[in-house]
Amino acid sequence: MEALEVILTRRSVRKYTEEQVDDIYIQQLIEAAVSAPSAGNQQPWHFIVIDDRRILDKIPSFHPHAKMLKKAQKAILVCGDTNLERYKGYWMLDCSAATQNILLAARALGLGACWLGVYPREERIIKLRELLGVPRNVIPFSLISLGYPAEEQKKVEREYKARIHYNKW
Ligand SMILES: Cc1cc2nc3c(=O)[nH]c(=O)nc-3n(C[C@H](O)[C@H](O)[C@H](O)COP(=O)(O)O)c2cc1C
Repeated sequence: MEALEVILTRRSVRKYTEEQVDDIYIQQLIEAAVSAPSAGNQQPWHFIVIDDRRILDKIPSFHPHAKMLKKAQKAILVCGDTNLERYKGYWMLDCSAATQNILLAARALGLGACWLGVYPREERIIKLRELLGVPRNVIPFSLISLGYPAEEQKKVEREYKARIHYNKW
């Protein structure tokens, strides 16, 4: 699929088939993530791949918008390591770019994915830290549910013309 088509047709996919997602795809998704830009090239990210059914099933008990994990094949938790942060206040922007790259790569690979917000919700950060044994210097940022899509992804029309400003507001 051509790059622009991937971008225009990426949608949040919350319904998945039973088909397993091979680990080779996880490697490709994470390679896409670390290809994202980061402030001063600081690359402050870590990734926790979750494929343990008990863990996937537990997350919706404290994350109110994560029901799809019960049917997801895997999930990736994108985290920011504050020890790797050289440019203060930028780690979350870097992790956002990495997250978006995973979503786009998933679309390109024929997978379905959804960004589940974690940061800055303190209670979700604390629970994920506990559940996955994440160290204090590492902040869970976003969770991405993954599976083969059981719903269609297509381009949506969004109004943007009124949001474009040339040379001044
Ligand atoms: C920071 C952020 C947090 C999000 N959190 C959730 C979430 O917790 N659960 C969920 O189902 N979708 C979540 N989404 C997905 C949005 O609901 C979705 O991107 C939006 O409705 C637009 O739909 P689209 O992704 O299909 O274009 C999140 C998206 C972002 C960027």
